[in-house]
Amino acid sequence: KKVILAYSGGLDTTAIIPWLKENYDYEVICVCIDVGQGQELDGLEERALSSGASKLYIEDLKDEFVKDFVYPTLKAQAKYETKYLLGTSIARPLISKRLVEIAKQEGAEAICHGATGKGNDQVRFELTIKALAPELKIIAPWRIWDIKSREDAIEYCNKHGINLPFNKDTSYSRDRNLWHLSHEGLELEHVELEPNYNHLLQLSVSPEQAPDTPEYIELEFDKGIPVALNGEKIDGVSLISKLNELGGKHGIGTLDLLENRVVGMKSRGVYETPGGTILYAAHSKLEELCLDKQTLAYKSTLAIKYAELVYSGEWYTPLREALAAFVDETQKTVTGTVKLKLYKGNIIPAGASSEYSLYSESLASFTTGDLYNHHDAEGFINLFGLPLKVRAMLLNTDK
Ligand code: ARG
Ligand code: SIN
Repeated sequence: KKVILAYSGGLDTTAIIPWLKENYDYEVICVCIDVGQGQELDGLEERALSSGASKLYIEDLKDEFVKDFVYPTLKAQAKYETKYLLGTSIARPLISKRLVEIAKQEGAEAICHGATGKGNDQVRFELTIKALAPELKIIAPWRIWDIKSREDAIEYCNKHGINLPFNKDTSYSRDRNLWHLSHEGLELEHVELEPNYNHLLQLSVSPEQAPDTPEYIELEFDKGIPVALNGEKIDGVSLISKLNELGGKHGIGTLDLLENRVVGMKSRGVYETPGGTILYAAHSKLEELCLDKQTLAYKSTLAIKYAELVYSGEWYTPLREALAAFVDETQKTVTGTVKLKLYKGNIIPAGASSEYSLYSESLASFTTGDLYNHHDAEGFINLFGLPLKVRAMLLNTDK
């Protein structure tokens, strides 16, 4: 009997290997999914095998991550609780999907993940597995075992003859991928304290440390998808890495958020999403130009729901898919170019253009044109204001 383990190479998921063998007598097949965590993958196989796994798959899914998860979310302008760009939330369904595929290929009976019993990630992993392969058993050691701390985990490993260079030092709980880096724990658990940014930031700097000279960039979109930077065509993975660098350098995209987890508690996280923040800003600018009033307004109400679904692990659901189809329909004209100025934590718009622009200079300008007759405004305002007039008359007679 086989189990597929979502493996990161870290202490927790390494300790899970002997634990699975001890408690279930499973053959353990590890799968490490590369979604751009920037981790050293050399030596990972040796680590998994020497801990008792029979095999390690290393899967580079960065392209798929960008194409099928980052861009749909960007096109929706989805932000959880109006702010969080969902970096961890969108990686989980992709990871789970690949785990399921490998489980089927290997004829495995179960999938095991290392998410804790208090967080969102367990929900995301497990909802995806249920949606794609309801027959698979799910094992979440953190909800069952007696290991409560890093010390416990190290001791457990040592007892099972695994002596890896894991240290006891406590750091933030981090999750990194191409799109973002999240930090939780330590002083962030005390909401009255300012985050220790000098200690914490890894992709970016504080605005105080950013250069005194602004930098302009130009992004080109095709149907809502970014395709070129500063006039040069670029693939998604390279673009996001490049924008992470640029945004990070200018102190852009740091978010300190107290959010509501799916499992009920409020939790504070600091997120670094430099490239993502730039892309959301640029895409939104272009939508201002290319979408009509009603579509833009309606789409922004759907974005709230879209973000809730993604955050809660409901990626593979009929509603999320239907909303994505709506979003794609709106993106047919979101094609064009946006210029931005990056400066000390700010993204300052510096102009946008599109062949689908709905902005008409002659219509907006104060000089009279053919399309707009000033006299029409009088009748329009009379009808538009009629309910106000009726109400005012009523209120006045009441007195
Ligand atoms: N709070 C964020 C989210 O739910 C980040 C979670 C980070 N996960 C982790 N395993 N460190 O999306
Ligand atoms: C975890 O509990 O594994 C990390 C935090 C989260 O999933 O929200």
